[in-house]
Amino acid sequence: MKYETNVIKLRALRKEDSAVSCAWRNDPAVRDFALGYRYPVTTAMEESWYMRAMAPDNKDVYFAIEDKQSSTFIGIASLVGVDLISANACFGIIIGDKQHQGGGRGWDAVQFMLDYGFNMLRLHRIYLHVPAYNERAISLYSKAGFKIEGVMREHFFLDGRHHDVNVMALLKPSWVAGMKDPTP
Ligand SMILES: CC(C)(COP(=O)(O)OP(=O)(O)OC[C@H]1O[C@@H](n2cnc3c(N)ncnc32)[C@H](O)[C@@H]1OP(=O)(O)O)[C@@H](O)C(=O)NCCC(=O)NCCS
Repeated sequence: MKYETNVIKLRALRKEDSAVSCAWRNDPAVRDFALGYRYPVTTAMEESWYMRAMAPDNKDVYFAIEDKQSSTFIGIASLVGVDLISANACFGIIIGDKQHQGGGRGWDAVQFMLDYGFNMLRLHRIYLHVPAYNERAISLYSKAGFKIEGVMREHFFLDGRHHDVNVMALLKPSWVAGMKDPTP
């Protein structure tokens, strides 16, 4: 499979990426839309998270997303908790660099990760959790074929109230069939 599309390149995370992604972790416009860790994140904390994320024996797969034209590190896409017996994993994505949002890069990263998960890791089911207020992400996932399977009611506390979190998933047969079933 190709590790690039028309607008992005995918590569392994590098330790030096942590200085950039640390800023995204502390940016409410990114963090609060991705169910992120709410305490302030220091560079040391982010570096230590990278060491765990890049450990060779873990069950999580992380890709750095680069803007293809400028080779700028703009985001992270992941499949975490890869279960090779049940063949499932939890998908996550942030395009942390706001200048690069809204240009189809998130879409391309989702397409890449689905291909990688289903055809490289042999997954059967890819699922995710998304705050119900994150309409942009839900729209992206729905167009990619994910279905809402349920709602974790008032699961996420932010700005003084609890918010619903949607569970969405895509099964390999639906993905292979080219999302012919248009049921929302
Ligand atoms: C949500 C996020 C990943 C989307 O990525 P993006 O690069 O900004 O968005 P894109 O330009 O790729 O896609 C967004 C829109 O274009 C659509 N789109 C883009 N390319 C497309 C294509 N080739 N075919 C069909 N639809 C396409 C998407 O479905 C979506 O549609 P809509 O906004 O009109 O409803 C990104 O904005 C982000 O990381 N935001 C902050 C953190 C976050 O919300 N993460 C998700 C946590 S669950």
